[in-house]
Amino acid sequence: MPKHTMRAVRLHEHGGPEVLRYDEVPIPQPGPGEVLVRVHAAGINPPDWYLRDGMSNLPPDVRPKFSLPVIPGTDLSGVVEAVAADVEGFSIGNEVFGLLRFPSFDGSTYAEYVAAPASDLALKPAGLDHVHAAGAPMAGLTAWQFLIELGHDHPSPFQAAQHRPVPLDANTTVLINGAAGGVGHFALQLAKWKGARVIAVASGAHEWFLRDLGADEFIDYTKSRPEDVVHDIDLVLDAVGGPDSKRLLRTLKRGGSQFPVFFGEFDEEETLRLGVTVTGTQVRSNGAQLADLGRLLDAGTVRVAIDSTFALADARAAHERAARGHIQGKIVLTVA
Ligand SMILES: NC(=O)c1ccc[n+]([C@@H]2O[C@H](COP(=O)([O-])OP(=O)(O)OC[C@H]3O[C@@H](n4cnc5c(N)ncnc54)[C@H](OP(=O)(O)O)[C@@H]3O)[C@@H](O)[C@H]2O)c1
Repeated sequence: MPKHTMRAVRLHEHGGPEVLRYDEVPIPQPGPGEVLVRVHAAGINPPDWYLRDGMSNLPPDVRPKFSLPVIPGTDLSGVVEAVAADVEGFSIGNEVFGLLRFPSFDGSTYAEYVAAPASDLALKPAGLDHVHAAGAPMAGLTAWQFLIELGHDHPSPFQAAQHRPVPLDANTTVLINGAAGGVGHFALQLAKWKGARVIAVASGAHEWFLRDLGADEFIDYTKSRPEDVVHDIDLVLDAVGGPDSKRLLRTLKRGGSQFPVFFGEFDEEETLRLGVTVTGTQVRSNGAQLADLGRLLDAGTVRVAIDSTFALADARAAHERAARGHIQGKIVLTVA
């Protein structure tokens, strides 16, 4: 008899990790332009816990609205089980990975099956297992869209200025703050791929991890503040962001740029006086860019570091791990 239900983690209310419930729900049907994916692994990302706690960290005017219950999650790696009649380029049995429907927050990947827009998917790099592939989509595409190619014209909900990556080469020095986390470790590797010199900022436990990924210099932010020890930087990618981000402007040379990945607070008069630009963007699903990143992953040019894995039923423990901070790479839920 065909299966009609699946296990999925759902939110019935907003709150701490304890509100993640392991439920039995109907298997979704793929709509036009979609494929049904049997999920093997689901990567977790900060927006998952922002959604869980009701987006309290966002200003009320940019807070998306949700109806509950909702299945969280945006990132997956899995196998195509069914394909809508209008979908080309994917067939049953294909191994795929993707960042689904972001920034709509209805990716619903904490589940055994997901109806996924085909345009959000790419073929999984053959050399990666599902856990590593599931760690790549959101964090990898964020680093890609900030540093390599934006790929869309949607304005950021947090900043009017249009984001544009800046050229990176052997003459460029890039400082990456929050370098050990999901976005930071991909950004470091993409900047190295482009030939740039990279200064990685993180807590001391990550030094050898980051040097192994290619960091030329390392700053332990618990011992010294980057703005006190480095200057004349071309580009700061700040994967920590927030109100404290503007202190990093002091590391930039005139003509330099700062990319806050989490929105920060900047004073236009100060940036004009320093002769620097500050732009950001919000990552968007993009299967074609993921295929480009997938080629670098397959070649081993870019690696996915796994902080930890948890079974889907233990999503609560995965969110508790995230809340303790100091993440090195990605936290991934194992599903199939
Ligand atoms: N704009 C977008 O579309 C977009 C997309 C994805 C993510 N984001 C945002 O970007 C941020 C990073 O996301 P993520 O997935 O990379 O998060 P993550 O995996 O949790 O990584 C955060 C990293 O920051 C480090 N960190 C914490 N405080 C620090 C400090 N004061 N100085 C330097 N490093 C510090 C942490 O380790 P240590 O403290 O041990 O060094 C950790 O490795 C989040 O705020 C997320 O919401 C934005």
